[in-house]
Parts: sequence; structure tokens; C-alpha cells
Amino acid sequence: MTSTAICPGSFDPITNGHLDIIHRAATMFDRLVVAVLRNTEKQCLFSIEDRVTLIRESLQGVPNVEVDAFDGLLVEYVRAKGARHILRGIRALSDFEYEFQMALMNRRLAPEVDTVFLMPREEYTYLSSRLVREVARLGGPVEGLVPAPVARLLKERMQP
Ligand code: PNS
Repeated sequence: MTSTAICPGSFDPITNGHLDIIHRAATMFDRLVVAVLRNTEKQCLFSIEDRVTLIRESLQGVPNVEVDAFDGLLVEYVRAKGARHILRGIRALSDFEYEFQMALMNRRLAPEVDTVFLMPREEYTYLSSRLVREVARLGGPVEGLVPAPVARLLKERMQP
């Protein structure tokens, strides 16, 4: 039996913290699907196409990881992919309540699906897509915080 996990998120944009989690999980599951939410409510900096492309470019050479987009209920997508696990990163206590609520709601909706939490390297504990967008918008350096393709596109987008 092949074990599949789904790593969902907005990834606006993907950061080195996300990548750290994805690389760790890729060693634990046969197949890992990074699933980008087609966010209709949130105003995203990057389009769904850009976010998917940036993740694909950042994950070149990782054979068992796929990148896809999804909408609707996450657990329905998980079931459609034949997966039994949702993978999420957890950085600090401040993430816990939000993650706990989502994990328990998802369990209520799909009792057969478990959420697995991994911690990134401690140097990424403070890192978030929101802060990366803010630093980039204000002209600060984002190298070392995001993969190179993301840093390039951020620079292009933020040029006055
Ligand atoms: O990176 P994010 O924005 O924290 O990811 C949030 C995400 C995409 C995991 C969450 O918003 C989600 O699963 N959305 C899909 C809709 C859904 O299933 N909602 C109920 C989950 S409790």
C-alpha cells in the first residue's frame, strides 16, 4: 500500500520554512501532494498559477512530491487523492490553537483522516508568508527566507 499525505496551504508565497517541512515529510510518506488553496476570500499577492509554479520550481529533484491546486473542503480533496494524512507545520505555541481547531474539525468531517504536525528548523520559527510579503513590500531583503524563484518574482512584483 502506498502512503499518501496532503500538505495543504495558501503558500502566498512558499517560504524556506514550508520547504523544510515538505522535505522532512517526503522522507516519511511514499507520496506527498502539496495542495495550494485556490483562495477566493483572501486577497493573495500571487495568483494560484504563480503559487503552483513557484512551488514546482522550488521542489525540483524531489521525486515523490507533487504540486496541485484545490478548492472546497480539504477532507474531500484528501479522500479524492486516496490519502489518510494531512501534513501541517507548527512553529510555535501561537500556531497551536488555529491548527488544533482545524485538525479537530477535519477529524469530525473525516474520522479516518489524521493530521500530522512537523516542526521546522528553529531558524524558521519566526518565518511566515505574511512577514515575507511585508518585508518585500517595504524593500527589505528576502534572500535566505524564501527559495530563489520566489525571491526573484517578489523583486519583480515589488519594483515601483
Ligand atoms: O496556509 P494556510 O492559509 O494556513 O492554510 C489553510 C488551509 C488551506 C489548510 C485551510 O484554510 C483549508 O483547509 N481550507 C480549505 C477549506 C476547508 O476544508 N475548511 C475547513 C477546514 S477546518
